[in-house]
Amino acid sequence: MSDKELLSIAEKAAENSYAPYSGFHVGAALLTKDGRVFTGCNIENASYSLTVCAERTALFKAVSEGCTEFEAIAIAGSKTVDFSAPCPPCGACLQVLSEFCKGDLRVVLSDRVLTLSELMPLAFKL
Ligand code: THU
Repeated sequence: MSDKELLSIAEKAAENSYAPYSGFHVGAALLTKDGRVFTGCNIENASYSLTVCAERTALFKAVSEGCTEFEAIAIAGSKTVDFSAPCPPCGACLQVLSEFCKGDLRVVLSDRVLTLSELMPLAFKL
């Protein structure tokens, strides 16, 4: 699976985004070490703080299906159908990703590929 393919799966996942409050639609595609892909979208709530980001939706789907080893995550977000601007994960998602993913997880954005440790060099761990 190429990064480009993973990104296009993330863009497709954004179609299911439920974002009536922000109008910002996000999709994520999480690639497991054994080649499976779990998608996620952001799901907003009238009680705003209960909103869940696309990345965490994808991660929680994967973990709940028994998958805990990951290779890459692609993220696409936009208020329109144009996903050319990068949509990096928020700090909360970086922390949650850090629970399960190594620092070398590839984070695939529209215009660049970073590692998890570049985005979150010192995640909180117990
Ligand atoms: N959002 C994500 O889905 N992922 C992020 O990493 C940052 C923000 C969503 C949450 C909310 O529904 C919308 O984008 C605007 O903040």
